[in-house]
Amino acid sequence: MSFEKPWTEKYRPVKLDDVVGRPYIVERLKSYVSRNNMPHLLFAGPAGVGKTTCALALAREMFGESWHQNFQETNASDERGINVVRERIKDFARTMSMGGNFKIIFLDESDALTPDAQNALRRTMEIYTSTCRFILSCNYSSKIIPPIQSRCAIFRFGPLPEDAILEKLARIAENENIIIKDDGMDAIKYIADGDMRKAENTLQAAAFLGKEINGELVYQVSSRARPEEIEDMINASLGGNFLASRKLLDSLLIEKGLSGQDIITQMHRQIMDLDIPEERKVDLVDKIGEHEFRLVEGSNERIQLEALLARLSKK
Ligand SMILES: Nc1ncnc2c1ncn2[C@@H]1O[C@H](COP(=O)(O)OP(=O)(O)O)[C@@H](O)[C@H]1O
Ligand SMILES: [Mg+2]
Repeated sequence: MSFEKPWTEKYRPVKLDDVVGRPYIVERLKSYVSRNNMPHLLFAGPAGVGKTTCALALAREMFGESWHQNFQETNASDERGINVVRERIKDFARTMSMGGNFKIIFLDESDALTPDAQNALRRTMEIYTSTCRFILSCNYSSKIIPPIQSRCAIFRFGPLPEDAILEKLARIAENENIIIKDDGMDAIKYIADGDMRKAENTLQAAAFLGKEINGELVYQVSSRARPEEIEDMINASLGGNFLASRKLLDSLLIEKGLSGQDIITQMHRQIMDLDIPEERKVDLVDKIGEHEFRLVEGSNERIQLEALLARLSKK
C-alpha cells in the first residue's frame, strides 16, 4: 500500500461530468466543447479546488484521443523566467494542431509572473491567437495585468462546498472499501476547508492507519487542532484564566507540534462560532490580526501567542 498512487491522481476527474460542486463552470466549459471553440480563459482561485482538473478535462473532451498532442502544461513559477516560457510556447504553437483547429496552453501559477513578464506573455498570446488558446491559472485574478484579464473569459473557483467534498469522498470510500464515520467526515471537511486535494490526502493518510475513519484518526494524521481545543483555549483566556489557556497552548505547540501560524489561523476561524457578544468578537479579530502580522514578520511564535492570550485574559 505504501507504493500506492496518490488518491488525488487516482481519482482526478477525467470528464467534466465527474467534476463536483462546479455546475456553472462545467456548463460553460461544455458549451465550448460543443461549439468546438473557446476564448482564452483565466481560472482564479485557491489551491486544490479543480483549476488544473477542469483544464485537463476540457482538453480531453475538446480533442478526444489526440488531446496529448494539443495540450501543453507549463508552470510559470518553475520555469526560469518568461523567456523559457515563451520559447516553449513558441515551439509548441508553431506545429499544426492535430484533429482540432487550435491547441491549448495551460499556464499554471501565472500570477507568479512579474508585470513585465505578463506583458511579454500578452504579446505572445496575440501572436499565436489563431492557433492557440491559453488557460491561465492563478490564485488572485487581481495579480494579472488588466490587458490580459480583458482578453480572457474569467472563471472564479471558490472553495468547494462541503456537500461536494462529501460526495467525492463517499465515492472514494466505496471504491477503497473504507468506512467514513460521521465524525470522521466532519473532521475532514473542517481540515480541508474547501480544498479537495487536502481532503483526499487526509483521507488517504487516515485510511493507511485503519479501515474505519473516525475523527480521532483524522486528527491524528493531520497537523490541525480539534476546533474544541482551540475554543477551550480562547474561552479560558477570555474568562481570565491565563495559566489554563497557556497550558492548552503548550499542548498544541509541543505535544501536537502545530506551528504558531496554524494555531492563529484556526483561532481566527473559530471566532464566529464562539458564544460571546459581538464587541468581544470585534476585539478578538483585531488582536488576532495584529499578532498574526507579528508572526509573519518572524517574531518568536510562542512569545507572540502567549502575549495574545495574555491580552485576551486582561479584558
Ligand atoms: N471540483 C472537483 N471535483 C472533483 N475532484 C476535484 C475537484 N477539485 C479538485 N479535485 C481533486 O483535487 C485534486 C486537486 O485538484 P486540482 O484541479 O489539481 O486543483 P488546483 O485548483 O490546485 O489546480 C485533484 O486531483 C482532484 O482529484
Ligand atoms: Mg493546479
